Amino acid sequence: MKTMMVTGAGAGIGEAIACAAAAAGYRVAVLDVDAARAAAVALSLKDGVAFGVDVSDEQAVDAVLRSLGAAPDVLVNNAGIVRFGPLLEHSLENFKAAVNVNLIGTFVTARAVARGMLERGSGVIINMSSINATHPAPGSGAYPATKAAIVSLTQHMALEWGPGGVRVNAIAPGFIDAGMSTPIYANPRVRELRGGAVPQRRLGTAQDIANAVLFLASDQGSYINGHELIVDGGVVNSVLAGLPRE
Ligand SMILES: NC(=O)c1ccc[n+]([C@@H]2O[C@H](COP(=O)([O-])OP(=O)(O)OC[C@H]3O[C@@H](n4cnc5c(N)ncnc54)[C@H](O)[C@@H]3O)[C@@H](O)[C@H]2O)c1
Repeated sequence: MKTMMVTGAGAGIGEAIACAAAAAGYRVAVLDVDAARAAAVALSLKDGVAFGVDVSDEQAVDAVLRSLGAAPDVLVNNAGIVRFGPLLEHSLENFKAAVNVNLIGTFVTARAVARGMLERGSGVIINMSSINATHPAPGSGAYPATKAAIVSLTQHMALEWGPGGVRVNAIAPGFIDAGMSTPIYANPRVRELRGGAVPQRRLGTAQDIANAVLFLASDQGSYINGHELIVDGGVVNSVLAGLPRE
């Protein structure tokens, strides 16, 4: 049985990835800084194990790997936070908090897991970016910069670890009706406007992202390495579609 380790799996998109992975036959390691949420999600899975861990804490991540006994077959670096606020008033504390979880957490966890994967000669790593990486949402602080850095880090990891049998890719979700965006889409008018702005005329779901994870993790994605897979219903390509016309 293959093992998938999912960070930030106590809620939102990560929880959906953990559930989809379990349904696809993976043993799932559910990691979240919220230990109670991690435990609840792991308990709901056929074969889940929970770890309350901060992904930016090297010692804590190493302890998870020791407890698992072997590097997972798949790592999904999904844990992420956003601290809202315009850049001019953005505190260094908020900026650093997002860098710490999103970028440093991705590096710390991927590096720890990759050591074991490279020793074994196989593994898949999927890092969660965002369409914010290329299209920053005003007022989202360090978030877009961290997501752009994750794409660069993904390419870098793919170059260094590909020869050792480890594939590394990123997923860039668009407007997802789940997790950290739930409060935004609680407003029916915003839901309607945002969904209507997507060429597929709907918001994305956590399941849409989980499907992309399972594809990249599977042998069907076996020659995809260093890629950023945009899963957004076409919205980042729609600038010209929104131009005023006669
Ligand atoms: N929801 C969206 O619209 C959307 C869009 C694009 C990208 N994303 C990305 O998808 C990922 C999941 O987001 P979500 O919407 O499900 O958010 P969410 O807030 O629902 O879930 C994030 C999870 O990460 C956990 N977490 C936070 N800091 C952590 C840390 N230091 N260590 C371990 N776990 C930690 C939280 O406790 C939470 O359970 C994030 O990387 C996010 O940037 C989300």
